[in-house]
Formats: sequence, C-alpha cells, structure tokens
Amino acid sequence: RLPEPFTTALTVPPPARLVGPDHYEVVQRHAVVEILPGLRTPVLTYDGTFPGPTVTSRRGRTTTVTHRHELDVPTVVHLHGGHTPASSDGFPTEAARATRDYVYPCDQPAATLWYHDHRMDFTAPQVYRGLAGFHLVHDDEEDALPLPRGDRDVPLMVTDRAFAEDGSLLYPARGDGLTGEYRAGVLGDVVLVNGKPWPVMEVDAARYRLRLLNASNARHYLLTGLPFTQIGSDGGLLERPVTHAELPIAPGERFDVVVDFSGLAPGAEVTVRNGLGTGSTALVLRFRVTRRVRDDSAVPAVLTRYDRPDPATAVRTRDWRFSRGHHGHGHAWLVNGRPFDPHRADATIRLGELEVWRISTDLHHPVHVHLDPVHVLSRRGGLGPTDVGRKDTVALGPADHVELAVRFTDHVGRFLLHCHALEHEDMAMMAAYDTHA
Ligand code: C2O
Ligand code: CU
Repeated sequence: RLPEPFTTALTVPPPARLVGPDHYEVVQRHAVVEILPGLRTPVLTYDGTFPGPTVTSRRGRTTTVTHRHELDVPTVVHLHGGHTPASSDGFPTEAARATRDYVYPCDQPAATLWYHDHRMDFTAPQVYRGLAGFHLVHDDEEDALPLPRGDRDVPLMVTDRAFAEDGSLLYPARGDGLTGEYRAGVLGDVVLVNGKPWPVMEVDAARYRLRLLNASNARHYLLTGLPFTQIGSDGGLLERPVTHAELPIAPGERFDVVVDFSGLAPGAEVTVRNGLGTGSTALVLRFRVTRRVRDDSAVPAVLTRYDRPDPATAVRTRDWRFSRGHHGHGHAWLVNGRPFDPHRADATIRLGELEVWRISTDLHHPVHVHLDPVHVLSRRGGLGPTDVGRKDTVALGPADHVELAVRFTDHVGRFLLHCHALEHEDMAMMAAYDTHA
C-alpha cells in the first residue's frame, strides 16, 4: 500500500563532512533509512543518507573528496557536470572495493552538479539503491546576484522507486517489466523528492531558488503547478531568465529555477504535478505557505555572459546514433551500432577544437556528455524551451535529431558519452572518446 501523498515533510540533504580545507570525506556504507513512514529500507549510501551529503566547492579551488569504501559491491564515483581530469572522472571499469581520493579542480562556473555511482554494467541498480548526491559549485559572480539564498536556495532531487511490502526497494531483473516508449528503463510508482515520498515543503511567502535534479533511472517528468523562472541549466546560469509554465526534465538534467510564493497567503498550498505520470506518478510535491516575510531577492534580467560557440568555425561534424539493436544473444542499446567497449576510443578529439555533433535516436534517450558543457544548436521541429544555456544532458525523443556544439578543454584522457537512462547505459549505450593536446 502506498503512503498518503503530501504527509511527509521535505528534508534537505546534510552538508558533506569537511576533514580539511576543501577536503571532504564520504563513507560509502550500507544503511537502513526510513523512506516510507514506519518502514525500514536498506540502501547503499554515501555517508549513511539518501540522497548523499551535499558537497560544495568554490570555483577554481580544488576540492578533494575521499570516498571510503565499506560496501560489498565495487563502486566508482562520477561527478556529473564536473570539468574533471580523467583520473578522477570515475571511468566505469575503475570500480573497486577500495578507498579513493577524487580530485576536482572545479575550474568552472557556479552550477548544480551531482555525483553518483558509475560502475560498469551496474550503475542503474547501484544508483537506484541510493548512491547519488548533490555537488554545488559557487562563484563570486553568482554571489553578487540578488537571487534567493540561504534557506531559500534548496536542492531537490527527484527520483522514482518501487518498494516491497516490507519497505525494501524493488529492482527488477534487467530489462524486465517495462512497456511503452520509455522501454527498458526501470520505473517506480513512488515519487521521492530528496528521498521522501511526495513531500510537503513549508515555505515563506517569498521567492525560492530550487535546484531541480532528475536523478531517476529512467523516468521523465513534466513539472506543472506554478510558473518556473529558469535561471540556470546543467552547466551554470543562463544569460537571461526564461519562464516556463511547465518544465520537462529528463534523467540527469538539472534546472535551477526561481518560484515565487510572495503573492500567497499563509495556509495556501501549491501542488507540483507530473504531466507525464498517471495515478501515483502524476504527483511530485507540495508547497505550503506558512508566513509573510520581507523578501529582498530578485531575478535580474541579465544573469551572466558566456561565449557562444560559432558553428561556422567547427572543424568537423560527427554523427552519433542512439538506437536499440542486437549484440551476441541479446538485446542491447547501441551507439553507432556498437555496444560500449571501454578499451576502444570511438572518437579522438583535439582539445580546443569545436565540433558539431549530430545526435539521432530511435526512442527517448537523454544523452550525456562528460568533461565540458555543450550547446544545442538545432533540434528537429525547432529548439525546445529548455534547450538554452550550457547543457551536459540533452533529452531526445523518439526519432529525434539534435545538433550540438561541442568543445573539450584542459583535460587529456578517455571520457564518455552515453544515454542517461541508466538501464540503457548498463546495456552498452555508451561510447568513449579520447581527448588530446
Ligand atoms: Cu550522470 Cu556518465 O553520468
Ligand atoms: Cu537511452
């Protein structure tokens, strides 16, 4: 039986533990947590909580995260959206039962990043069982803006999960139990925000900055219920805010939005729904206004400036096709007709060179590029409202086609391009590219 929606209070993940200047320690360990009221759920955790603790970095100040390994499965950590050297990027075949330091230069603009497990063939079940957390990068430029801050700057990790009677997480055998156009991704019937089922968030009658992350294995959402003024995307602030009446968010994507409760009286409630869900998955969370306050925050008309790549200067065009196929005896999800091989570079790319990547799909695939943000240049049927800004995860629909401007910088090594529907990723829908000077 599912819990009653909007009866559990939202919580915010705790800050990660500092053990020295810009040095955090996270213990990867088993824990039993209460997700559904009154039930115990065994999970894999970063530091005992789901979501894991939030790491924060200052732009350009190297952050080290020591991950102590106390689990019974090999793991490897990827900082999603991080401009990270290959040695700390969490290549899937590096998964091990070992303590390890990850070094993040964080030489990148303020942005909402997240970290999660990336173990070869087992990313989906291990993220599902709890291995995901936020990593926020801050900088002076963003601090100078009058955006909501402090308690009114809230990371929200949206995931769906299925539970057994006893509260344990249900994860089907690979590829089971899925139908429809999102085929072969694991879906749950309980929507969790920061690890709580359909929570209620008490808010002042004021503006809030919400850092929305879809950390679901495969579920897409169309968030509705109030105007979302988008101020940032995966890779940092937008140049100008964009207001959306409804906000589509695919697995791996982040949107920083400002929502405004200042016109509402204490007691008012606002429900955020999922326009793509039915029944229990059509509900996400509820805000309840508690008191009137003074609010000096604002959303400036200009948030930042960044260089927009000029596709006329691209040195090459590359095609990447994401589609289903067969490999060996089974069903696989392929990139350019081939399953992932960690020992093969599918592309070799010089640092600093601008390329245009043409990506096409058979079904829904949120495509994620490691190392540097990309810009969406075009999309079949026209650019979408959330295609603006610096992206690292781009949602493609069935029979879709996008062109991306891609430029890698600073770090030489082997990096990944893959579908962020985690079951697709585990079933080989991943490619590797080598960057060189
Ligand atoms: Cu969020 Cu390669 O992953
Ligand atoms: Cu996919």
